Amino acid sequence: MKKELKFKVNGEDYDLWVEPKTLLVQVLRDELGLKGTKWACDSGACCACTVMVDGRAVKSCSILALQVNGKEVMTVEGLANGPELHPLQQAFIDNWAFQCGFCTSGQLMAAKALLDENPDPTIDEIKIAMDGHLCRCTGYNMISEAIQDAAKRLQAQKQQEGGK
Ligand code: FES
Ligand code: FES
Repeated sequence: MKKELKFKVNGEDYDLWVEPKTLLVQVLRDELGLKGTKWACDSGACCACTVMVDGRAVKSCSILALQVNGKEVMTVEGLANGPELHPLQQAFIDNWAFQCGFCTSGQLMAAKALLDENPDPTIDEIKIAMDGHLCRCTGYNMISEAIQDAAKRLQAQKQQEGGK
């Protein structure tokens, strides 16, 4: 029997009815059309499906949709500000941190959760936070460097905003 799911995704309120066994990734992709979140291994092993739930990185294939009732979800579609890319997205482009891009939305969301909590991470801290994110095409060093670059951009942005 379907149950009511009320939650926020990328700042918008949703009120849906879902089967109890429905996964969060299924609701995001199939009900809301947010296909940026990838569904790959289906076993919690690749992290391609990572989104943020109340600020924490979560594998959306490993959580039931009803577990996010009353919570706030952010997907890769919520990162950019209109046509303006998020500094993480721009840093991934500038540092060649992806090729096919299949793993990238999950990487970006895990990196966002990290930088929100730790704005100036060391390379080792980045590696720990990104552990488990599988990428079949890009060197992992480039991904770590992009995240460190994004941290610098975000700090500069904050300083600029503080100086206004
Ligand atoms: S699809 Fe969720 S961890 Fe691989
Ligand atoms: S960029 Fe292709 S799998 Fe990571």
